[in-house]
Amino acid sequence: MNYITVHDKTFQPFIYEAEIQIAVSKIGERIAQDYAGKHPLFIGVLNGAFMFCSDLLKSVDVPCEVTFVRLSSYDGITSTGEVRSIVSLQEDIEGRDVILVEDIVDTGLTMQKAMASLSELKPSSLEIASLLVKPDCLQCELDIKYKGFEIPEKFVVGYGLDYDGLGRNFKDIYQLKQE
Ligand code: IMP
Repeated sequence: MNYITVHDKTFQPFIYEAEIQIAVSKIGERIAQDYAGKHPLFIGVLNGAFMFCSDLLKSVDVPCEVTFVRLSSYDGITSTGEVRSIVSLQEDIEGRDVILVEDIVDTGLTMQKAMASLSELKPSSLEIASLLVKPDCLQCELDIKYKGFEIPEKFVVGYGLDYDGLGRNFKDIYQLKQE
């Protein structure tokens, strides 16, 4: 097995690039169908969703725009439960069809806060696309319309996801090595 080391931890392969690309294309095709004749605005959540957002847009075959916000709730490998907004939205989203693009939903608190803040700006529709979801970790009600994979309660890195800043550049997704 091709293990990788990030900081002090060893990770093992979990979801390979080819599977990720298939899942991302499927989400993009679904979005293209659902938004036919519309002009959606994708809001990628930095830093983790930059890679997913970039690949996703390549398979969305309708005119669309993209922008980014930066939110943070993680410290090391655990969620702090407190969501901080670091870069806020510059665009006017009133009356727009908005899709919030996230790398992974864990407790769901980041997305809950982002959805609440964005709803106040009166978009005509607002949905979530998340590549990964950890259903066992969810601490709130969240309607995630577009998801790539449901995964168990495991810490993962790669394909945009980091462990304390490192590991985002791997093409595959890795999970903490099982002892
Ligand atoms: P939530 O608010 O607990 O849902 O956390 C969501 C954010 O935590 C994501 O945007 C990621 O930045 C980070 N996160 C959650 N789980 C993981 C993981 O397994 N690996 C890397 N980052 C994670």
